[in-house]
Amino acid sequence: MQAFYATAWGGPDVMRHGDLPDPHPGRGEVRVAVQASSINPVDWKVRVGMVRWLPGQHLPRPLGTDFAGVVDEVGKGVSSFRVGDRVYGIVVTMLGHAGAHAEYVNAPVNRLRRMPDGLGFVEAAALPVAALTALNGLRLAGERAAQRVLVNGATGGVGHFAVQMARARGATVTAVCSARNLERARELGAHTVLDYQSQDFTTLEDRYDLVLDAHASAGYSRASRVLEPTGAYASTLPTPALIFRDFASSVLPVGRAYLANMRGHPEDYAELERLLADGSVKPIVEHVYSLADAAKAFALAEAGGVVGKVAVQVR
Ligand SMILES: NC(=O)c1ccc[n+]([C@@H]2O[C@H](COP(=O)([O-])OP(=O)(O)OC[C@H]3O[C@@H](n4cnc5c(N)ncnc54)[C@H](OP(=O)(O)O)[C@@H]3O)[C@@H](O)[C@H]2O)c1
Repeated sequence: MQAFYATAWGGPDVMRHGDLPDPHPGRGEVRVAVQASSINPVDWKVRVGMVRWLPGQHLPRPLGTDFAGVVDEVGKGVSSFRVGDRVYGIVVTMLGHAGAHAEYVNAPVNRLRRMPDGLGFVEAAALPVAALTALNGLRLAGERAAQRVLVNGATGGVGHFAVQMARARGATVTAVCSARNLERARELGAHTVLDYQSQDFTTLEDRYDLVLDAHASAGYSRASRVLEPTGAYASTLPTPALIFRDFASSVLPVGRAYLANMRGHPEDYAELERLLADGSVKPIVEHVYSLADAAKAFALAEAGGVVGKVAVQVR
């Protein structure tokens, strides 16, 4: 099969487009003929070797977590999916799984979802990691996510979903992004926009019930300066300090912090699909590259400045 894969741990120059052996599904897996995949920062975090100490890491291996496509082979013990089903979901490349920037990917069925009618492959491939991370960050914050919410990194993959989802919950939303994307953040539904290059939101007067740090750069101590006494901080990056505070604040009366990681339970996908169906949330995918040009997709995504997601049209 044709694939876009990493040959070694390192920078963009370790990636190649070429032939790898066709995979075949193991027990509890199906093989998906990938139609589209999308780029996430985890792709280059895996590529540079950030998790090379975790079990199962091997190279060469296709990169890519998010995908959408059609089931074309079913492994043993699988009764919930059939050949021809249109599906989307993730493969956990951080744990050594072969990734989705390839013509075929083996996907465990517990991480797979049937595509709702009316959703295209590119749009579906843009959803899982970023949208389900935003959804989980807001879910963990409960009522706070419907009050005054600040999203840091508001026009990126996670952020552009978070702004739309917070608006759908009735929140008053402040979006923090680069100057070039301020207008785009307003179009996503933000009431107030701040340019991170000229303003540090943690030093301003306004107070929030939730700071959702999609970019994961503010940190609890700084963000807590602008939180209401009952407010919460949620960040996408699982640092030891955040994990400790997440636990401590669940059992002690100290400022609340959450790890906003991706959660893909059936009820999460169902809620996401409801938001898509009623028009409250729309994935933004303005840059789509062929598999042969996936290096350009990575270069663009890694450079920053993109609104929404960068996708790869595999077929
Ligand atoms: N734990 C999980 O399950 C999980 C899931 C998904 C993502 N993540 C992590 O979440 C982070 C964001 O992912 P993403 O897909 O949203 O990335 P992304 O698409 O690259 O978006 C990053 C956003 O942050 C903005 N930004 C850049 N520098 C900033 C700064 N100094 N202050 C505030 N905002 C800044 C960017 O704006 P400009 O482009 O306009 O500069 C962009 O809007 C990554 O670290 C990723 O690994 C974790």
